[in-house]
Amino acid sequence: MSAIEVKGLKKSFGAKEVLREVNLTVERGEIFGFLGRNGAGKSTFIQIMTGITQATGGTVALLGEPADRLDAIKQRIGVMPDTSNLYHDMTARAFLNYMAGLSGVRITKQEVRRLLEQVGLSGTERQKIGSFSFGMKKKISIAQALTGNPELLFLDEPTSGLDPESAIEIQRLLLALKAEGKTIFLTSHNLN
Ligand SMILES: Nc1ncnc2c1ncn2[C@@H]1O[C@H](COP(=O)(O)OP(=O)(O)OP(=O)(O)O)[C@@H](O)[C@H]1O
Ligand SMILES: [Mg+2]
Repeated sequence: MSAIEVKGLKKSFGAKEVLREVNLTVERGEIFGFLGRNGAGKSTFIQIMTGITQATGGTVALLGEPADRLDAIKQRIGVMPDTSNLYHDMTARAFLNYMAGLSGVRITKQEVRRLLEQVGLSGTERQKIGSFSFGMKKKISIAQALTGNPELLFLDEPTSGLDPESAIEIQRLLLALKAEGKTIFLTSHNLN
């Protein structure tokens, strides 16, 4: 059973056709990079996969479940959206607890510490997200996608805007997650 199976996917906003017959299969344990110019429809595609917006046509199956059963598998899926969903007044720890809670997961202090460590934000538990740099916000957004230890990750431009060193750290993290058996679907403008 594939992690992602998309057939004939279409999306239009009014008369504007954004996705035209997208067909793709991502096997479990793969890292799949989705490339395309600005406005190509990458974020729209991720929004359809994660139930934020509806397709105009076609079929989607995630982890073997059809899209209308997304509720049954949403705890097994993690998402880092393109637009910031960060709560600036929250500390890093409160934010991770809150986001985990939204997907029905409870995480311990140790898990929060481990998540922050994993993305290179060790020791920032009590820091407010509003005081984070751009790169740190990107990293905590990845950490929030990892809460609840999902099997399938959708990451919308996880490395864009990061300095080269941070981008390499994130690439290493993604390889480590793959080694744990996770499936990662990511968009990027970085051909490397
Ligand atoms: N809610 C919406 N209403 C109307 N048009 C939309 C909406 N969301 C996206 N679009 C249009 O769909 C197209 C694809 O946008 P999308 O954000 O998916 O592209 P993208 O590939 O993620 O681009 P980028 O690389 O800039 O992030 C764009 O032309 C955009 O204007
Ligand atoms: Mg986008």
